[in-house]
Amino acid sequence: MMSTADTVAFDVVDGIAWVRFNRPEKRNCMSPTLNRRMMEVLDELEFREDVGVLVLSGEGTAWSAGMDLKEYFRETEEKGLGATRQAQRESYGWWRRLRWYQKPTIAMVNGWCFGGGYGPLYSCDLAIAAEEAKFGLSEINWGILPGGGATKVVVDLIPMRDAMYHAMTGEAIDGKKAAEWRLVNEAVPLAQLKDRVTEIAKVLLEKNPVALKATKDAVRRVKEMTYDNAEDFLVRAQEAANSFDNNGRKEGIRQFIDEKSYKPGLGAYKR
Ligand code: ACO
Repeated sequence: MMSTADTVAFDVVDGIAWVRFNRPEKRNCMSPTLNRRMMEVLDELEFREDVGVLVLSGEGTAWSAGMDLKEYFRETEEKGLGATRQAQRESYGWWRRLRWYQKPTIAMVNGWCFGGGYGPLYSCDLAIAAEEAKFGLSEINWGILPGGGATKVVVDLIPMRDAMYHAMTGEAIDGKKAAEWRLVNEAVPLAQLKDRVTEIAKVLLEKNPVALKATKDAVRRVKEMTYDNAEDFLVRAQEAANSFDNNGRKEGIRQFIDEKSYKPGLGAYKR
């Protein structure tokens, strides 16, 4: 199934939803229209049985050149505070939705990734970049601070000195450097990007989906907790997960202990 007549394109193939920013002629910068459409697409895909993993990438040479300076900033500001706040809600809204998405998510960064693009980049559970991709907090270059969460993203993901340098100089870095700084998990040559992402998606597709959702949320939640709060949260989170998946983990134990058909240290049980 294919839908390209819009600011967002997507197709679902073998359990993977390939979602793409689709304004290549505008380097996939995020306009209010795109942001609204992306929320609809996320809604549509989230609980589909045939979707196990969502990959977010961009059509053309960009992943996303950040917020649309004309439609998101200039034109909404001209309409007043209400329009500005609405545009913020719509963009932050789908990023937040993606951060806590039901399915595991991978950012496949195929090209330019600037400013506001760091929001969805951070929202995706994993991020794999092309070595040729370029990342930048370009806000300083046109006279604003890295807002929309972008400052928080770099401080959360990369060391303080690098975050400060990145934010203050506005210099772009390539995919290799982004991997070195841990802004992304890894970088591979663009020609291999889709294959590598598919490989990772397939690994995720083999896992228990209830456990995956519980795990990804846990990693994000515990980051800001004390050890004791995290310990307590994790006990409760697992017990809550059990109510959605009564037999999964018991089957995982059975196949290892009784059947001896796999080793959890080396791979997933058969679902
Ligand atoms: N907002 C609005 N329009 C944009 C944006 C953007 N963020 N990025 C690109 N475009 C438009 C250009 O204006 C141009 O439009 P036109 O064809 O109508 O003239 C078209 O997309 C193509 O852009 P080019 O600059 O010609 O593409 P090129 O491949 O040479 O350069 C690059 C790509 C480096 C990404 C450049 O477009 C750029 O610097 N974009 C802005 C990046 C940026 O700083 N984004 C804002 C971050 S801050 C924030 O998001 C809060």
